[in-house]
Amino acid sequence: MQLISSFLYLAGFAAAAAVVDLESRQSASQITTVDLAVNQGTPVRRASGILYGVPNTKNQIPSSFYTSMGFNYLSAGGAQFSASGWIFGGYTARFQDVLSNFQTARQFNAQFILKVSDLWGDDATQGSGGVYPGANGDFTQYDAFLTQLVKDLKANGMTSNIKLLIWNEPDLTIFWNAPQAQYFSTWSHAVKFLRTNLPGVPIAGPAFAGAPSSSNSWWTGFLTRVKADGTAPDVYTWHHEGSSTDPNNDLQTSQPAMVNLLNSFGLAIGEFVIDEYANVAEQNPASAAWWIARFERFNMSGLRGNWLSGANLQDFLAGLLWKSGSTYFGNGEWQVYKYYATSMTGHRVASTGSTDRLMDNFAVVGTNIVRILVGGRLVTGTYSLQIKSLSALGLLASGTISVRTRQFSFSGTQGQVGDPTDLGLVSHAYSGNVLSFPIFQTDTVTTWAFEFNF
Ligand SMILES: *[C@@H]1O[C@H](CO)[C@@H](O)[C@H](O)[C@H]1NC(C)=O
Repeated sequence: MQLISSFLYLAGFAAAAAVVDLESRQSASQITTVDLAVNQGTPVRRASGILYGVPNTKNQIPSSFYTSMGFNYLSAGGAQFSASGWIFGGYTARFQDVLSNFQTARQFNAQFILKVSDLWGDDATQGSGGVYPGANGDFTQYDAFLTQLVKDLKANGMTSNIKLLIWNEPDLTIFWNAPQAQYFSTWSHAVKFLRTNLPGVPIAGPAFAGAPSSSNSWWTGFLTRVKADGTAPDVYTWHHEGSSTDPNNDLQTSQPAMVNLLNSFGLAIGEFVIDEYANVAEQNPASAAWWIARFERFNMSGLRGNWLSGANLQDFLAGLLWKSGSTYFGNGEWQVYKYYATSMTGHRVASTGSTDRLMDNFAVVGTNIVRILVGGRLVTGTYSLQIKSLSALGLLASGTISVRTRQFSFSGTQGQVGDPTDLGLVSHAYSGNVLSFPIFQTDTVTTWAFEFNF
């Protein structure tokens, strides 16, 4: 990483003169823009949620790790915890695990999404022992489970700061190995039961692995059913953990698709949450910044997917930390979240991603400083950052600006990385109210923040 950083440092100095040539060579497919004149409001760290990732021993991970990443959303349900849920006689232990996770979420004022199907026991480890509610229209056992759950949620003060997610990824056989129609009935049954017995507690779902689309029968069947019987979720959730090159695996496609679907079904457009985002290869500084830019643009909350398993699933804040003995440390990706949550204050400004969809940025205007976090989705190449409307900061339409570059390096999920490397200042001439300079993306994981004072 040292070699790369010194190369980029030198390249940065040479870049100023080359900007004009580079601009004329580059198409929108390689340009990511910021518009300083368009205020998008106060940042609320849209992308700072995590899936599982929290130990059930309270304070095992020191609180500074939660606060510095802006931790604000947790989803859990006891999956892969040794006891295996209601259908295997292991409900009570799983509930205690969930209670501890919920209490940690509340300690940091984070919202909690309860994966109810984990407590039931179909968490992808159920195998042939899996039991799926509503077979032959029989909900007797499921109602006994829901009755116990409602009682326990009430008894433990778990009726606020919580959303109830009925079933995780029913569109995958590993989670729902029964007919599709039976899932729709189970959804409907559970929502009616929970709204009657826990009025006011929001329902989240459908948590499909597949993104919303009018050609996906899980989505169309689901929306048909919830429209017909008034069981639409309060919060729509789905997952984005598929291929990095699939345009459907991107909020830029799925957010408008969801809006269109709801409009076409005559359903209300409420909050959208991606309760699992980023495939395993995308858990690195560059892709994290790319996802952050997307969540901020679409005002959607995101919870980081979790690719650890067994005991590690409920630890390490979903791949941001590792430990040496019992001492936790942040990896390179962690440093991106820390910068995002603790340095990127002020107000958000509008941005656009490159039209090849592979480079993006999130920008804020703070007190006399602009901070821009750029991120590529597993891409290399030369991109360009174009910063428009400098006059919105009170600057002249042309002049010179000194831009500081901070480099976020990565040495794997288990590699400790300290604060981003300050690569110093590079002076850039600008005109026409627009400042442009290149982003040299020489590997797929390292990323950058650019800062300048005004
Ligand atoms: C996100 O929120 C900002 C600020 O309220 C708003 O200007 C923008 O249009 C919203 N974006 C979307 C895609 O809804």
